[in-house]
Order: sequence, then structure tokens, then C-alpha cells
Amino acid sequence: MFLSDAELVEARRILPGQWIQWYHAPALASAVRAGQFVHVRTGDWSGLVLRRPFTVNTADPATGVVSIHFREVGRGTGWLAHLRPGDRLDVLGPLGQGFQVDPRNRHLLLVAGGVGIADLRLLADEAIRDGRHVVLLFGARDASEVYPSSLLPDELEYVVATEDGSVGHRGFVTDLFTDYEAWADQAFACGPAPMLRVLAGLASGRAKRLGIATLGRKRGAGKPVPPGSVQARRKAFLQVSMEQRMGCAVGACLGCVVWGVDGPQRVCREGPVFASDEIDWEATAAASGPAGGRR
Ligand code: FES
Repeated sequence: MFLSDAELVEARRILPGQWIQWYHAPALASAVRAGQFVHVRTGDWSGLVLRRPFTVNTADPATGVVSIHFREVGRGTGWLAHLRPGDRLDVLGPLGQGFQVDPRNRHLLLVAGGVGIADLRLLADEAIRDGRHVVLLFGARDASEVYPSSLLPDELEYVVATEDGSVGHRGFVTDLFTDYEAWADQAFACGPAPMLRVLAGLASGRAKRLGIATLGRKRGAGKPVPPGSVQARRKAFLQVSMEQRMGCAVGACLGCVVWGVDGPQRVCREGPVFASDEIDWEATAAASGPAGGRR
């Protein structure tokens, strides 16, 4: 984690109320990994004190450029949306625990709901660079909110669901999950909490549906893998990136806690990426307030 002085090189409105901004920040572009985020200081005239968290959308170490994708929802993102090329940002990061891909896995299933695609976009780039096959399932309310395919790598298979059926599958993106669960070695998701909860339920029943035997540990197979560790997340079929309001983003204020099966988990430190079976979905849903996290 370090402070960067990031210069805006390009800003594009990609969907109604949604922006991608590209910044020149070479050290950050080299250090960040898929699923990590940055904490951005909004400018003095915005009248805002707290930094705003944004997942890093793409990062190119060769050019030193990183991008963020956000929805304009309040004064902080409104201020950001009005920046022009040449303007500079004070950026703290990279922060948090990113996605963990098992090196043996070749087929990755990505599931995004709306602007949640920002958390998965860099993972898609990294996976394709490493020779993996990627399917992206994307869900939106209607055609006007569908992420442009021109912003995705050509190698990726892109499948869309809209609630009104105006593009692709009519219904929720979660309806498509089981179509790909046998093909996928691992799955990664980001989107609204109800969507993640449904996916977590589907992931927990996958082995049974596919008839995968669950064997006990072999004798002498070494120590059990501690829950929440990199190894445990790597072994999980589904990892989720959790959205939560943040204050400090460095683990001090406890403003971003979600409920895990082993107790409270700070999204900014233990997350934002968790194995889906690490989260106590009932307790998290009961405790959660209105949506509004990174971006
Ligand atoms: S935002 Fe302060 S502990 Fe996570």
C-alpha cells in the first residue's frame, strides 16, 4: 500500500451514469492484483472529507495506466465524473485481498451484476493472459444497462441476461450459473448481495448435483487449511467480492464488517474477496443497511 499521484488521461461515459476513467499511475499499475481496490481522496471543493473506495478495473504495467469504473451516485462520484484529462488524484492502494486462482485451473466462470463487473474485469485480463478460458455471465435490468462488449477482451465468451428480456436470457443472471458449473473449475462473482447469496447457495450444492464425491483427507496429507487463508480461498469453487460501505479502508474503524461463519470480517482487510462459504449470508443480510460500497 502506498500513495500515488495519478493523472487522468481519459474519461468515458460508457452507460447512463457510469464512467470509466484511465489514470497514469505506474507503481500502482505494476502492484495491483485483480480484486484489490484503491482509496481516492476527493478534491477540496467537493466538501467531502472521507476518501472513496474503487476497485481497480484494469491495470497495464507496460503503459502504467490503471482504470476505475464507477456509477455516479453522490457528491464524491459526481466530483470525480467532472474531472478532465490532466487533473490529478491522490490515490492510496492497492488495498485488500484480491481473487485467488488455483494455478491448475483452466476454466474460469465470472458472474457480474451491473457495475459489479468492475471487480472482475482485471481478473478476466489476468486469466486470458495466463492462457485460461473465461466465460463472463452479466446481468442487468434491461438493454440500456448492458456492459459494452467492445470493452471486453475478444477471447472471452460473454453471456448476457436482462430482467426484461430486451437482450439475451430473460431473467436473472443467476439462472445461467448451473449451465456452466460443470465446465468451470472455479467461479468468481460480484454484484448485489442478493445475487451473491443465491450464487453461494448454488455453489454449495454443486458437488452433489454433479455427483462429485467428497473424500475425507488422506492420512498424512498435512495440516488442515485454515479458513480464510489464501489456500482455502484458492480451493473454494466460488469466490465473491463483497460490497460494503467503508470509512478508513485500512481495518481501523470497523465500518465495513460483514458476518463470516467464524465471526465478523472486515471487507477492507480480510476481503473484499471471500470464499462464498466463509460468509454467513443470513446474518450479513439481516445486518446490512442500504447498498453502497466501493464505486
Ligand atoms: S473501512 Fe474501516 S475497518 Fe474497513
